[in-house]
Amino acid sequence: MQSRSHSHENSNANELRLRASIRELQQLINGISFTSSSSSNSPLVPAHLTSLINDAAYHEDQSNLSNEMYESVVKEMALFVSSTIASFGKSFESEGVYNPELLKLYDALVWGFNSPFLWRITQNDISSLYEMNASPHNHCEIAVGTGLFLSELVALPSMKHIALLDLNENCLRVCEERIKDVCHRRHHHQLNDTPDNVASVPDVSKLLVDIMMSPQTNNDPMKGGDDGVHILQSPLTPIRGKFQSVGVNFLFHCLHGSNLYDKMHAFHNCASLLDPQDGVFFGSTILGKEMLDDEPNAGETAMHVLRAFNDMGVFGNLGDSFQDLEDILTVIFEDVDVYRVGYCGVWMARHPKAYIREE
Ligand SMILES: C[S@@+](CC[C@H](N)C(=O)[O-])C[C@H]1O[C@@H](n2cnc3c(N)ncnc32)[C@H](O)[C@@H]1O
Repeated sequence: MQSRSHSHENSNANELRLRASIRELQQLINGISFTSSSSSNSPLVPAHLTSLINDAAYHEDQSNLSNEMYESVVKEMALFVSSTIASFGKSFESEGVYNPELLKLYDALVWGFNSPFLWRITQNDISSLYEMNASPHNHCEIAVGTGLFLSELVALPSMKHIALLDLNENCLRVCEERIKDVCHRRHHHQLNDTPDNVASVPDVSKLLVDIMMSPQTNNDPMKGGDDGVHILQSPLTPIRGKFQSVGVNFLFHCLHGSNLYDKMHAFHNCASLLDPQDGVFFGSTILGKEMLDDEPNAGETAMHVLRAFNDMGVFGNLGDSFQDLEDILTVIFEDVDVYRVGYCGVWMARHPKAYIREE
């Protein structure tokens, strides 16, 4: 067995490293304001927040941005983001918040603000994880969201087959459309439409599935066998063992449970899809327990948003720890590489153990 994990000293360095740039935030809110004007349901960035960010960006450029001003921008922006998300409903299942309007703002809110400023992980951290691990031949993406990271990959002409799995139909549709859109634009702008180029558009399949379901069977008395109980195959059965890469990014913190062990079915299901000889399972998740244990450094604003998201049901991660993530991956896989970036656990794991293949 080979199991490696990067040390916590490494992770502390990462946590301290990230003081995300107000200049980038300024570009982001300009983008959100622009998006909003074309959609009546999207909230506009409030004027006081825009001017606070513009002032702070000026001071950042002059290298005299104070900690107080930085914190107050982060706090006001977090209030805006949280209230925008809350405006889509008050309580959610793990997939319930992702309606078409929120999906239009998702990349900006989650990857433009929450992740770098609160959870201290950046889009680049995850883009490079995908670049390193996603198989160009046969990739399975679970919990697809808007397909942000896949859309960066399919800009490469080499992607052949992608399977999309999610519990929310909006996400499956938006992700598929985005992939096709990127491919079409690539053809138009770079390659012209020759038969060879058409063949390089990846084949995309979609499956509406709850990744938390029991890996083995569902008992459904309505379907009836002789004894009134019919053991159904899991919808995942036909695709088990098929993929050279399985990506699951920012899913586990959305699933509800008192800790990561309560989400074990989801880990098993993901692992079972992997080609046992040659596949890699990778992703990242926000670890609420690590934030609770490091509350003074995580900061008041990040803690407020973490608790609010858990109260709403958008997250269910207050008990999720790095140690449990490492232990669970090591129980399931022979070869594990897991490390921290900010308050997130990031992993790559290979060679699922025999019992996973038999489930
Ligand atoms: C926070 S988004 C992550 C999106 C994207 N992977 C990213 O990194 O930004 C969570 C995604 O998980 C999906 N999801 C939530 N619960 C699920 C479940 N039980 N089974 C499958 N997908 C689920 C949601 O519909 C949504 O697409």
